[in-house]
Amino acid sequence: MARRSLLVAACICCIAIGIVRAKLYTSTQNNTYFIEARHKYNWFQSQNQCTLQNMTLLSIENADKNREIHDLINENFKDKEKPLLYIGANDLANLKHFCWTKTGLEFDYTNWSEGEPNNYGGNEHCVHIGLYDDDTWNDVDCSMRFGYICEENKK
Ligand SMILES: *[C@@H]1O[C@H](CO)[C@@H](O)[C@H](O)[C@H]1NC(C)=O
Ligand SMILES: *[C@@H]1O[C@H](CO)[C@@H](O)[C@H](O)[C@H]1NC(C)=O
Ligand SMILES: *[C@@H]1O[C@H](CO)[C@@H](O)[C@H](O)[C@H]1NC(C)=O
Repeated sequence: MARRSLLVAACICCIAIGIVRAKLYTSTQNNTYFIEARHKYNWFQSQNQCTLQNMTLLSIENADKNREIHDLINENFKDKEKPLLYIGANDLANLKHFCWTKTGLEFDYTNWSEGEPNNYGGNEHCVHIGLYDDDTWNDVDCSMRFGYICEENKK
């Protein structure tokens, strides 16, 4: 009896780990990313979720990284709806000066969607990808709930 419940517990545990594992993806560059596409979080919660996994909301520093992420999402969501995912860019500290949470620094490389960032309604200080069915960036109200993408912490 005890043995059976132990077995059941072990199975549930394996399934739970399986679900968590399924969210870790390896890119063409062999980097590991965590993508939450099912459950929705505001931007602050998203960053916290990354921190809980020893990760950080994604930075896209250059065109190579952009391509890597583009390929990763296309590969893993090709038959599914394109997920709306928070990334680490924000201008919370200094309006219209977007920086990456990872570094706290402003950046040069951008891949905004056409007409973005538009600070629509004067309250769009966080950034997500996936809106225009590609991976270009859109600024959005940080309290809106989306999925998110985290990357590993490394220098
Ligand atoms: C990624 O890892 C695989 C298996 O270890 C290896 O064959 C491949 O060359 C690696 N790719 C890159 C870009 O490092
Ligand atoms: C977090 O990640 C860093 C960099 O990969 C690693 O050195 C550190 O041991 C990790 N900490 C935990 C608690 O996993
Ligand atoms: C912006 O993103 C799109 C979609 O991933 C890509 O085709 C394009 O080359 C990117 N532009 C730059 C400047 O990286």
